Amino acid sequence: MTVLLLGMKIVRSSPNVGAEILGVDLRLLTDGEFEAIREAFTDHGVIFFRDQDLAPDEHIEFAQRWGDINVNRFFTAVDGHPQVAEVRKEPGQLANIGGVWHTDHSYDQIPALGSILYAREVPPVGGDTMFASQYAAFDALTDGMKETLLNLWADHSSRHVFGQDGDNNGLYNNPSSATQDAVHPVVIEHPLSGRAALYVNVGFTLRLHGWSHHESAPLLGWLYEHCGRAEFSTRFTWRPGSIAMWDNRAVQHYALNDYFGHRRLMHRITIEGTPIGPARRQPRPVAAAA
Ligand code: SIN
Repeated sequence: MTVLLLGMKIVRSSPNVGAEILGVDLRLLTDGEFEAIREAFTDHGVIFFRDQDLAPDEHIEFAQRWGDINVNRFFTAVDGHPQVAEVRKEPGQLANIGGVWHTDHSYDQIPALGSILYAREVPPVGGDTMFASQYAAFDALTDGMKETLLNLWADHSSRHVFGQDGDNNGLYNNPSSATQDAVHPVVIEHPLSGRAALYVNVGFTLRLHGWSHHESAPLLGWLYEHCGRAEFSTRFTWRPGSIAMWDNRAVQHYALNDYFGHRRLMHRITIEGTPIGPARRQPRPVAAAA
């Protein structure tokens, strides 16, 4: 489906997640265009733009329309612009940043709203990013599983990824700053849409709160697989000048690592979020009459 709004075209990327917004220059946004973009962001969980030409200051200016910028503790920043993190992979590097399904900043007490990722240099083929709707992932569960998950919380941490003992492959800085731990509901109520979304991810979730690793592993393992199912997902192929802006409370994302021998360089700005809380329990269903 395509929607025409103020000269912009909003084209859905897949049935459950994502929309590409065409016909807009992010350096020259009117307030009306920004409001339409904000609405598309809430509706689709991730929005995409093409052929943008943003200097770091213009990228920052667009980001500031959404809220305060989170200055990343672990990523290398663009020279002279601490608000802009580099997501860089050099031709000879094996590991990439974000190469599993994950939700950025779920280890923070107040997780970031989302990020605006701008492609500066991309491989000739490969290096796509996948996004999966966590609304669709929740909606597809049985009533029994929903009821169970609505009662659960989970522990998240930055330590095992960014910390001293983390498996960081030389990708990140400041391991001593990786001290963040948080407990979040397994199903959150999205702060903008009010919808229920699954909120556990293989990157940063450690265990179900109050459960051991051993007890948590089977259910979390099943949920991780479920959260990234193809039916809930879309795949974005980058070109220089492309932008993806995603909502961490509505989607998970996964940067594909299939372009060894080529450089990929992206600029990422992350926006601070607002507190998240549990999704409301559904009323108990009335038993069918005999
Ligand atoms: C990230 O996980 O923030 C990076 C995503 C990407 O490089 O596509």
